[in-house]
Amino acid sequence: MDTNAYAAGTEAATRGLLRFLTCGSVDDGKSTLIGRLLYDSQLIMEDTLKSLEKDSRRHGTTGEEIDLALLVDGLEAERQQGITIDVAYRFFATPRRSFIVADTPGHEQYTRNMATGASNSDLAIILIDARKGVLTQTKRHTYICSLLGIRHIVVAVNKIDLVGFSQDAFDRIVGDYVTFAAPLGFHSIVPVPISARYGDNVTTRSGNMPWYRGTTLVGHLETVEVEQEAADKPFRFPVQWVNRPNLDFRGFSGTVASGRIARGDQVVVAASGKASRVARILAPGGEADSAAAGEAVTLCLEDEIDIARGDVLCPPSQRPAVVDQFAAHILWMDEEPMLPGRQYLMRIGNLWTPASVTSIRHGVNVNTLEHEPARQVELNGIAFCNLSTARPVAVDAYEENRATGAFILVDRFTNRTAAAGMVAFPLRRATNIHHESTLVDKAARAALNQQKPVVLWFTGLSGSGKSTVAKLVERELHRAGRLTYILDGDNVRHGLNRDLGFTDADRVENIRRIGEVARLFVDAGVIVLCSFISPFRAERQMVRDLMEPGEFVEVFVDTPLEECMRRDPKGLYARARAGAIPNFTGLDSPYEPPEAPEITLRTVGTTPEALAQELLRRLREMGYP
Ligand code: ADX
Repeated sequence: MDTNAYAAGTEAATRGLLRFLTCGSVDDGKSTLIGRLLYDSQLIMEDTLKSLEKDSRRHGTTGEEIDLALLVDGLEAERQQGITIDVAYRFFATPRRSFIVADTPGHEQYTRNMATGASNSDLAIILIDARKGVLTQTKRHTYICSLLGIRHIVVAVNKIDLVGFSQDAFDRIVGDYVTFAAPLGFHSIVPVPISARYGDNVTTRSGNMPWYRGTTLVGHLETVEVEQEAADKPFRFPVQWVNRPNLDFRGFSGTVASGRIARGDQVVVAASGKASRVARILAPGGEADSAAAGEAVTLCLEDEIDIARGDVLCPPSQRPAVVDQFAAHILWMDEEPMLPGRQYLMRIGNLWTPASVTSIRHGVNVNTLEHEPARQVELNGIAFCNLSTARPVAVDAYEENRATGAFILVDRFTNRTAAAGMVAFPLRRATNIHHESTLVDKAARAALNQQKPVVLWFTGLSGSGKSTVAKLVERELHRAGRLTYILDGDNVRHGLNRDLGFTDADRVENIRRIGEVARLFVDAGVIVLCSFISPFRAERQMVRDLMEPGEFVEVFVDTPLEECMRRDPKGLYARARAGAIPNFTGLDSPYEPPEAPEITLRTVGTTPEALAQELLRRLREMGYP
């Protein structure tokens, strides 16, 4: 092979940089293909090459030849050491173009890394093993690529040598693939039969497939035209931090997410609409006249306007939507399923805000692309959802702007990135509803009642004694002249929540609604006693967050499961153990005990009356009258 043709070129800039990713598993030949691209472009250093030749003889699977997969897998060791590096970006160039390839682990669990790679790419190479054809994974990767805004696909039908360079095999796979991918809106789908191992049709034309008249893989990568650059989109500048070393200087630092900005340009803060002009642009190399997408700069404005970390600066005439509800596609990446109503932390631009999925519009079957009803979203699942954020956020549709239309959801307890999301459109309802303020407020109502409104949140297993103690406490409070109300699982489930069962998703929704109701009661100045198993930490935290500090007292009614089963006041444990009640808490449905409840009541060896007195005493100690 004439590798000189691929000496890293200096004229590579002619067509600009192409960013692409490869999708497929190691078995499909992904590592071998990337190794081949790097090898053919001679970017492998001499010493790497020597050790590669040695390694190939020792570990390789290719006999005397160099095993290109070892090259990439060798670089992979770096990745295995640190969990932070999910995607390796590799650079290579031909005389006609330079390339950045995002190398992502191909195993199905690694949707996360694939999504990260895809969100930065213009093109995807979908690798298909000629012997296996189009697999579910091929479809999943293709669909994710389409959601992440990739518009150009190369279908690399690899290991064509292993099917005797068969045109039939190639045509069949391409037919299957195109049938699947046609509705996904790609601008180009280019199939190429290759052997990454032997180099057929990768950088040089293969003599083994005279029936193939198309371009080589690299030939296509060198010439494919990709769309508009981020720099040509409207200007978006998510402020990363406000730089104020002294009173004479105030700058806003961050990376230009899209578009360009020049000194003298008008900008507004997306959320507040406050306007000013750019006075100075400070870049790493010094003062600059302008800056474009991808550049990290500090902007100084002519006027002192309110701007905080997370705000987005934009042109006055091209603003993003500022909303607290929108529809979006999400890719779920966490082992714990996504449950509507549960709160996560959303990062969008440089803004962090609590957020939840309010409803799943539909799930998507990646094999057929059919919409399916879904009540929760599992690992690697894809769903179209309505989301709601705790504060308004500036968003663009992902299709319009990859930078300001993308977000992630983070699990509040594990800090794991649980999902990647792509904004589809703002929800109109979000812009048409306002808060109506009243003339009498919470403080006034509380004063009339001469009490401090509070939620006493009893959590514990079924049969632990929550309701029994709550009822006694309410009676005592009432006798003392307090205005109270009890919300109890069994009662609420006859009315407001009669549509809910005991799946995880329904329990989340149960507690979400109760939380909202409890908040209304607190607003009405009432002491509200809530008695719910409320098995999940996340939802108890969510209710706590709905209240103001001091308005939420978590009471853990701590009774061991064995004791609850022994008491079994409603005979439910016996029935559940006989298999008549599925998803029973403590048996086949989890209970997450509170980690730091305000009050813990251990019920074994005492009486409900004594526990009620203990609770009232603790409340007085905490300053509740
Ligand atoms: S929660 O988990 O969503 O907070 P909630 O407190 O409203 O539950 O309701 C629990 C009550 O429903 C239990 O005390 C019991 O009487 C009844 N129940 C019926 N089925 C179940 C079940 N599968 N798991 C737990 N409780 C159940």
